[in-house]
Amino acid sequence: MHPNRSHTVRNPHLLPNFATLARERLPRWEAGIAGYGDSSRGTAAGVCQLNLAFTGPPRYCKSVLTFALAVGFVILKHMSNASIMAIAHRGASAYAPENTVAAFDEAIRLGCPAVELDVRLTSDGVPVVLHDETVDRTTNGSGRVSELSRIDLLRLDAGSWKHPRFAGTRIPTLDEALHAIAGLALPVLELKVPLESSVLREILEPHDALADAVVLSFEPAIIAAVRRDLPSLRVGLLAETWHSSLLRRALDLGATLVVLDVGAVAQAVADAVHKAGLRLWCYTVNDAGAAAACGAMGVSGIITDKPDLIRSRKRHARSM
Ligand code: G3P
Ligand code: CA
Repeated sequence: MHPNRSHTVRNPHLLPNFATLARERLPRWEAGIAGYGDSSRGTAAGVCQLNLAFTGPPRYCKSVLTFALAVGFVILKHMSNASIMAIAHRGASAYAPENTVAAFDEAIRLGCPAVELDVRLTSDGVPVVLHDETVDRTTNGSGRVSELSRIDLLRLDAGSWKHPRFAGTRIPTLDEALHAIAGLALPVLELKVPLESSVLREILEPHDALADAVVLSFEPAIIAAVRRDLPSLRVGLLAETWHSSLLRRALDLGATLVVLDVGAVAQAVADAVHKAGLRLWCYTVNDAGAAAACGAMGVSGIITDKPDLIRSRKRHARSM
């Protein structure tokens, strides 16, 4: 863009003046004298050169460059996000009580292509949607889910803790959750406890979710049972920390997906997962910068409390 220049000066006595003038007027060019009357250097005696070397862009170039870099960054950020799918973590749990129909509806209203939820069993064997082992944190009741019946759970308010406007919100059964999600977004079921495959099939089938849903678990035994009994379901292995042995385990289980805590994700990890032919999702990403970084590393899904954090398209859910 700025080739260095060389000017021949016929009168060598004027050369120092030209050089000084150039230094004053052209601050971003370095002026030097070469071949001062020296025929051995290729300049005839009495014919000298003023060499000008460009040392930096003019000020306006700097502004243009800064602007171009900013635009490039925004485009890159958009391109990175364009390849990631947002998965609403426990529904749009930043805006509505987690793992309730209100949170699932909100995720879908925000256009989120996939919704994650946690599945547990009541004392009478009904699959319900709740994250914790107990109802203490997210309802006005107390006790272990596994020691409470479906009717016990129906008496609890699972919304007021988040905001009074959600008063009266109930803990949904898995069936009720799928009623809100299936057909509108990809259901992503994290099994916190083992579930009879026949029970899972009976619940998924009427929602046409046997081919579409994704099942995740931290427990390899749970994934193995789902793969064995319900092979049409796609499964993913969850892990809090990274170890290369995770890949072998995921492949042996027939998983197509590894879901890692975002703190454990690095470029080398993403590369290893992809090299093994697996997809990589991470949780829980609630920051736009972290989402962009995940996109840049090739992560294909982020599990987020804020499904409006990135714009992702429905087609991702199908290609998952
Ligand atoms: O399913 C991914 C993520 O939800 C796992 O963490 O504790 O929110 O269930 P947790
Ligand atoms: Ca979960």
